[in-house]
Amino acid sequence: MAAGNKILVLGGLVMVFTTLLIPGDLLFAASARTNYLLYCSGCHLVNGKGNHPNVPTLHNELGRMMTVPAMREYLVRIPGAAQAPINDEELSAVINWVLQQWNADTLPAGFKKLTQAEVTAARQEILADPLRYRAQHWKDLPH
Ligand code: HEC
Repeated sequence: MAAGNKILVLGGLVMVFTTLLIPGDLLFAASARTNYLLYCSGCHLVNGKGNHPNVPTLHNELGRMMTVPAMREYLVRIPGAAQAPINDEELSAVINWVLQQWNADTLPAGFKKLTQAEVTAARQEILADPLRYRAQHWKDLPH
């Protein structure tokens, strides 16, 4: 075998082994993060802090909201989330990633991640007036 081919084969094996060695959770997190970067960060910024007062931060407040059951579906029914060009499984992963990444300290004890079934159902009911729904079930966005 030519030296170049050996290197290719070795490279291939290294890739296979690294994929096997990375725990499934990490792979999952990586793709959720990538989808966040592709479909959310344009408005909410790479660091998730948004652009006050037009685009809200995704830090801390979402975790607090999760004490109110009606606010679980809110996270999905937000137009920016519901209309992202990713499937329900991917959207569930992005939202759960945002909650873990930037709201871990404020999530209520015993919080259960959003399920794909929940996301599938909620996503069909995009909020025409998200700020109103938010104010009715939680509170106004800070000005
Ligand atoms: C085109 C800009 C834009 C994109 C892209 C976008 N958002 Fe938003 N997002 C907003 C704006 C603006 C709001 C405020 C509510 C509204 O007017 O929709 C918001 C609100 C939210 C909220 C509610 C925050 C709160 O405190 O009430 C969540 C959660 C959210 N977005 C998640 C996401 C996720 C997840 C994605 C990617 C899948 C995403 N958004 C993509 C602009 C965007």
